[in-house]
Amino acid sequence: MTGPDGIPARPLPISARAPGKCVLFGEHAVVHGCPELVVAIDLPTQVFVRAAGRVALNSDPRAAETHPYFRAALALAWRDRPAIDVRSVTRIPRSAGLGSSAAFVGALGAALAAGTGGLGRAELAQRAFEIERSAQGVGSPGDTSASVAGSYVALNGGGGEPLWSVGVGSDRWTVRRVDDPRWTWVVAYSGIPRSTADAVRAVGERLARPDGPSILARFDEVARAGIASVGRGDRRETGELLRRNQELLREVGVSHPRLEALLGAASPVSDGAKITGAGAGGSIVALPVPGREGELVRLLARAGALPFVVRAEPAGAALVEAPDTA
Ligand code: PMV
Repeated sequence: MTGPDGIPARPLPISARAPGKCVLFGEHAVVHGCPELVVAIDLPTQVFVRAAGRVALNSDPRAAETHPYFRAALALAWRDRPAIDVRSVTRIPRSAGLGSSAAFVGALGAALAAGTGGLGRAELAQRAFEIERSAQGVGSPGDTSASVAGSYVALNGGGGEPLWSVGVGSDRWTVRRVDDPRWTWVVAYSGIPRSTADAVRAVGERLARPDGPSILARFDEVARAGIASVGRGDRRETGELLRRNQELLREVGVSHPRLEALLGAASPVSDGAKITGAGAGGSIVALPVPGREGELVRLLARAGALPFVVRAEPAGAALVEAPDTA
């Protein structure tokens, strides 16, 4: 049973798509059980999967061994199946904190689920998390759940209707829906790639120090308030909470002079802004003053970043029903 909202069974070739994401509140702290708010953004990844003589990703036959997410997806979702050729196309910069791996895993997970009889959406969220965790070694299911669910989702607290609970081993996270305030956001990639796993480990060490629990308590409070303020569409309070979340990210050591410069550039035309994702490079997210999105994009581009105007993507991972060209 895939349920009305699940991924239906399809024969190959299959095309599927999933959105990238942006963390608005609670990154890093979520790994330690605190709340997080993530929004799926309208920067998608699309995959095309077809039967082939040998396994390949974007024409690279070694990818089944060398690409950690592709290798994990094949092991968990395509074991002992005939060879497939996968093409992946995306607008999301890699290693930028904008969910390129979650979108790849969400889209490929949906396509492989369709090719193996279909899957319910909660089961796809669990599988996408397992694939990402197996490739990355650390982290929470925030990115993969947002990519599979679409729109705004909260982990570990706040939010409304529960969508699912996902986990590995004894670690579990409950994922809930948060109302979409229909805001426009601007995300901007600094051009500095970084490793999520390294940043998560470094923050884990920082939080193991004696003041770790009190820092986590502040992350918890800011994220809980942030989830509520976004859910009721309160821009002013959300902007203030984004700033407070940024202070905490600075305190745990994941800011970077380039990111601080971008936050400074964004500030005159934003209601609030912060790093998004693991930090130590990567991207920022800003809530533009309504009507000044274009100005914000120009300021960020002039400061050396790659900006994108984004909105919540309501559709999570889904099959792309192509015209009958097979
Ligand atoms: O991979 P990124 O940069 O989008 O970071 C994700 C957010 C973290 O909380 C740092 C890690 C995680 O898996 O939750």
